[in-house]
Amino acid sequence: MNICFIVDEESRIKTPTMKDVLRQLSANHQITTISVSTVADAHAIMHTREALADVYLLKSHTPGALEIARLAEEKGIRVINSWKATQACQDRAFLSELFLAEDVPWPRTWVLDRFEQDLSEDMLSALTFPLMVKARYAYEGVFVDKVDTLEQLKRLATYKSLEPVIIQEYRQSDGWDTKVWVIGETILAAKRRSPLTHEPQDQFQLSPQDISAEMRDVALRIGKLLSADVFVVDMLITEQGPVAIDVNPFPGFRGLFGPEKAFVSLIEGLQQEAAIA
Ligand SMILES: Nc1ncnc2c1ncn2[C@@H]1O[C@H](COP(=O)(O)OP(=O)(O)O)[C@@H](O)[C@H]1O
Ligand SMILES: [Mg+2]
Repeated sequence: MNICFIVDEESRIKTPTMKDVLRQLSANHQITTISVSTVADAHAIMHTREALADVYLLKSHTPGALEIARLAEEKGIRVINSWKATQACQDRAFLSELFLAEDVPWPRTWVLDRFEQDLSEDMLSALTFPLMVKARYAYEGVFVDKVDTLEQLKRLATYKSLEPVIIQEYRQSDGWDTKVWVIGETILAAKRRSPLTHEPQDQFQLSPQDISAEMRDVALRIGKLLSADVFVVDMLITEQGPVAIDVNPFPGFRGLFGPEKAFVSLIEGLQQEAAIA
């Protein structure tokens, strides 16, 4: 197969896990990478016939990368993850509305197009603290804050007055983030210290028997709703069970045992799928 990685920086596929995946795949397949910055460049590349691959692996969410993926899908080529799923994960308002409508455990969430203007008195009286405020669009480096008081919330709203945000109920966890990776049929999970603690982000992987049926079910339902094949769900383990709070498509697999094999079998399985079809 011709397998093409769509990336914004080559370093994204130079992690130890991805290097191992590339080494294994290149034994039997042609591997290429493309990185484009604009939608116009994406069109230029995709209209050159010889540039087409059998499968595209979308590890970027820049407009150019999403457009390559969209054009490939339009030509009937398999893209992992689809451009729609990749884009959906950037929009916390879209995810919140979808998951709450489908009864996926997810914290109660309010969407504000303009933070300060949309913070009505009615809403303020309904809020209980602490709560989370997050930039609506989840690009690297955007803010995610825990807010403890009404004064703090109002100050943040003045500071970020025009920004689209979500406000989210704060859910008490067991003290850790629980990260659940889905790679095709394989599920891996780890506990990682929350970035809110500002402590080193220690991580320890859970053995398969410690990944509860509920955790698996939440992760797989999210994958189905988004049509995503490779992603990680951040969860909080609460007294009411796992609650999802974040989804990232095609993540790095930092500090994990086992993602390489799962990833390679997912890709090689696509060849069999194509042969049967
Ligand atoms: N609703 C919530 N309740 C409690 N803690 C949360 C909530 N949302 C996020 N957090 C904490 O904040 C961290 C960052 O939030 P997250 O939504 O994962 O954003 P990102 O990973 O894009 O920075 C999470 O890993 C979790 O520890
Ligand atoms: Mg997260």
